[in-house]
Amino acid sequence: MRSSPSDDHAPRALPPELADALGRARPRLGRLGGRSQFFDTIGSTNDAAAALATEGAVVVADRQTAGRGRRGRSWFSPPGSGLYVSVVLMPRSARVDPDRATAVLTLAAGVALVEGVERATGLRADLKWPNDLYAQRRKLGGILAEADMPAVTLGYGINVGPMAYPPELSDRATSLEAELGRPIDRALVFAETLAALAARYDDLLDGRIDAILDAWRSRAPGHRGALVSWTAGGDRTGTTAGIDEYGALLVRTEGRVERIVAGELKWL
Ligand code: BTN
Repeated sequence: MRSSPSDDHAPRALPPELADALGRARPRLGRLGGRSQFFDTIGSTNDAAAALATEGAVVVADRQTAGRGRRGRSWFSPPGSGLYVSVVLMPRSARVDPDRATAVLTLAAGVALVEGVERATGLRADLKWPNDLYAQRRKLGGILAEADMPAVTLGYGINVGPMAYPPELSDRATSLEAELGRPIDRALVFAETLAALAARYDDLLDGRIDAILDAWRSRAPGHRGALVSWTAGGDRTGTTAGIDEYGALLVRTEGRVERIVAGELKWL
């Protein structure tokens, strides 16, 4: 994806392999088929996308110097081996309750990413609530949604090639190439995840929320019957008992069921 631009931090035309893959997927890009920007290096694609503030705008970078993860963490974003993408969404339509649409949006995005990854590579990744991508219980990708209503900037990162992970990640992270043992076409993963996201975004805006939640359940083997811990004013443990119609996680603990709407879940 890299070339020798005069200013790394200025947007430029998509590199040919990304443009070609996107061009082939164009009939399936729907609301995400409009404006796209590419950066060799940027702080965070989420910031660049939020600045565009246009529904359907797409920002992709080869490297981030200040990639953000959920819960205040950073997202390791070296050049050449990851996919760093942000899109601007406006999850409002007459066909869906706005609170439900906003709540389910990131689950819909998780479903789209596992579908897009499978289509591009054949790898069937799992989801961990709410929207982390996993393979063999190692993290493959994640989603960060940042709202400035009515816009939501939805950023996703996928580990495509092996990376020199920092020590705290090395035994918890994996990549598509490490899982599959062969080179992976990053441009194809980009185009297929975007196309899948466009399709699941259509589902959301057209009110097909139950279909999204069913798809999420089928891709998240730990959403029922798994022993987990989470943080809520202290560490708690329980057994997962499904998700509700807003995508909140239900966990059975000490004889009752708790509803978790935000937080970090650990498998035990
Ligand atoms: C997570 O913690 O699991 C979410 C990671 C999200 C990373 C992506 S990479 C593209 C976009 N830009 C960012 O700064 N973060 C997201």
